[in-house]
Amino acid sequence: MKIKTRIIHSGKDIDEFTGASSIPIYQVSTYAQKDPINLGKYDYGRSDNLTRHAVEHIVANLEGGKAGFAFSSGMAAISSVFLIFKPDDEIIVTQDVYGGTYRVLNTIFKNWGLKAKYIDMTDVSNIEKHITDKTRSIFVETPTNPLLKIIDLKGVNEIAKKYGLLTIIDNTFMTPYLQRPIEFGFDIVIHSATKFMGGHSDLIAGVVVVKDENLSIKMKRIQNSFGAILGPMDSFLLHRGIKTLAIRMEAQQKTAFELAKWLKNKSGVKKVYYPLLDEHPGKEIHLEQSDGGGAVLSFEFESFDLAYKFMKNVKLPLLGVSLGGVESILSYPSSMSHAAIPQDVRISLGITDTLVRLSVGLEDIEDLKEDLEGAINKALK
Ligand SMILES: Cc1ncc(COP(=O)(O)O)c(C=O)c1O
Repeated sequence: MKIKTRIIHSGKDIDEFTGASSIPIYQVSTYAQKDPINLGKYDYGRSDNLTRHAVEHIVANLEGGKAGFAFSSGMAAISSVFLIFKPDDEIIVTQDVYGGTYRVLNTIFKNWGLKAKYIDMTDVSNIEKHITDKTRSIFVETPTNPLLKIIDLKGVNEIAKKYGLLTIIDNTFMTPYLQRPIEFGFDIVIHSATKFMGGHSDLIAGVVVVKDENLSIKMKRIQNSFGAILGPMDSFLLHRGIKTLAIRMEAQQKTAFELAKWLKNKSGVKKVYYPLLDEHPGKEIHLEQSDGGGAVLSFEFESFDLAYKFMKNVKLPLLGVSLGGVESILSYPSSMSHAAIPQDVRISLGITDTLVRLSVGLEDIEDLKEDLEGAINKALK
């Protein structure tokens, strides 16, 4: 079945006991046992919860993986994946990775003994020279946040497999509706499901999908031992949100592309970043490995003053941290998503103080244009 149909009919969308049209919220911590020695299939809520399993199942199905695991946040999902490694291991990470990933690697995992090397992967031939006999994995984001740089998934995977490395991707920006990295050989796909997967800015969640049985056993052990599971209520909300993923992504990315083209001609705007713009580096690769440009764009103003006044004047988009909601969300990466990256590193990566990021929602494009134009004009005065 095509992905739009699988979103609705993943195989676990109806309650198996009652036929209820939505999966009930199994708000439960433990299960009564018939025998004290031979425990039943369900024994404890951290290990098994049917509402959580329903959402794990649907995301695994959409990504084309063996199994899915739902966590209490995107960061819990990312951190749980890093627990696959051992002290003294090294991983190679996309340079302008999400700030929280950078922070957890450079604080907690660094102290623990896992070493991360951040490199520019837009040219995959740059990766090989950083691989040592301690390297265990390559961790990728594409398009990257917030500059939407494109990384060749097939190319990365080929290099990784040559050296027996695990390939991991944070697929938050694209969702499985637009990009399915397992099709390109990736081993592990992670989502901050707080974003487009949930889609309504009403929950914090993370999901991991693994390609094979071996990784599935490892992730299940980590999820159950470390215990950063997604609760039943949030599992329900995420499952419900995913049902409209296709239609939301289609509408939001259509508006995003229109706005990206339109913003290029606005005075005061120096540069627009969006994967489908003709001048965007890697556009062709992006089109080969995905089904659309996504609903996030970034743009740079000619000065900090303009960027600041624009953000103060905008009315429709919510000004704040996060992305992927039904409402447009305007973020300032230097003080929000990428604040954890030291200023000099951040600026050298192009995440300057004049850069803003817009996650485009479901509003009417004419209203968005009017609001953005008004805010730009006011800033220019
Ligand atoms: C690309 C990306 N990955 C991971 C995360 C972390 O997810 P969460 O906030 O759900 O912990 C975020 C959050 O902004 C993100 O943008």
